Amino acid sequence: MQSIDLRSDTVTQPTPAMREAIAKAPVGDDVYGEDPTVDALQRRAAALLGKEAALFVPSGSMGNQASLRTLTRPGDVVLASENAHILRYEGGAPAALWGVHVKTIGRDGLFDARDVRDAVPAAQDSHVAPTRVLAFENTHNFAGGRVFPLDALRDACATARELGLSLHLDGARLWNAVVATGVPAAQWAEPFDTVSVCLSKGLGAPVGSLVCASRERIREVHRARKLLGGGMRQAGILAAAGLHALDHHIERLAVDHANAKRFAEGLVALGIAVHPAPETNMVMFDVDDAAAFGRGLRERALRINMIAPGRFRAVTHLDVSSADIDEALARIAEILRELR
Ligand SMILES: Cc1ncc(COP(=O)(O)O)c(C=O)c1O
Repeated sequence: MQSIDLRSDTVTQPTPAMREAIAKAPVGDDVYGEDPTVDALQRRAAALLGKEAALFVPSGSMGNQASLRTLTRPGDVVLASENAHILRYEGGAPAALWGVHVKTIGRDGLFDARDVRDAVPAAQDSHVAPTRVLAFENTHNFAGGRVFPLDALRDACATARELGLSLHLDGARLWNAVVATGVPAAQWAEPFDTVSVCLSKGLGAPVGSLVCASRERIREVHRARKLLGGGMRQAGILAAAGLHALDHHIERLAVDHANAKRFAEGLVALGIAVHPAPETNMVMFDVDDAAAFGRGLRERALRINMIAPGRFRAVTHLDVSSADIDEALARIAEILRELR
């Protein structure tokens, strides 16, 4: 039985055309600033995000953490959404590396200007940890690939600025928000001091993320990347995959979104509770007998992660076709027949 892998959009194989782009890439030592392909990728990303400069980093986690390093001092508070990746899935890095604590606001990955205002103590005297940064995640992973509504995002950013906060965007899947809404990346990125975007999620590159910001800020992010051991040598090999992904794999995210919708509708037809309705490439659903369901998935080579007790997350991506979705639904129907 052929495996169908819906664990994450990070499990993709580089396409033959991407491998060809990798093979042909001119490279140099990027720690000396001599890799033309890395330079091209950084210029391209900065232009797409409407920022002065960009820095190539190995991972989204490093992009987020190097950004936070430049925006905070030990003892500061970072405000972020409930279950934000920076808090939940980056190994405790804000506390472990920078001595910064993360306080969550809002619900289900979203918050509004009121939540921001309520979270910042009125008196910032010596008793109180300074609240320094407001961090967004768009789309939001744990909330099921949810898009942050643009108006609410702008309002919350404006309030944060009034309160003297810096702004960071974890845009690991910003491309999905771009395709789902038609709002260009630069418009999403506009209010932020630092934006981290990934090439290795829906875009299908093997490695890499970019932090985009002002030229001066990127100099500081570069120092933070060094501190984290993130300097890479002939990294044009990887940057070529990233450039190829930006050229060829953004618009096609619409296919992943359509497949997620098809999968969600199929699950609902089978009597499975899907929540929220998918906005991008993730489908969250709840199953009563999760242990038996999980066993059924394994027996049928259907790979879907359980992300909380009884709650499963399926993610569509470059290597999943609509026929795979139909086959996955057929296998799930079989599991349900067995369980009933
Ligand atoms: C929203 C979000 N931010 C950051 C990351 C971190 O990316 P990486 O795994 O490249 O460190 C991920 C990874 O899935 C993510 O989903």
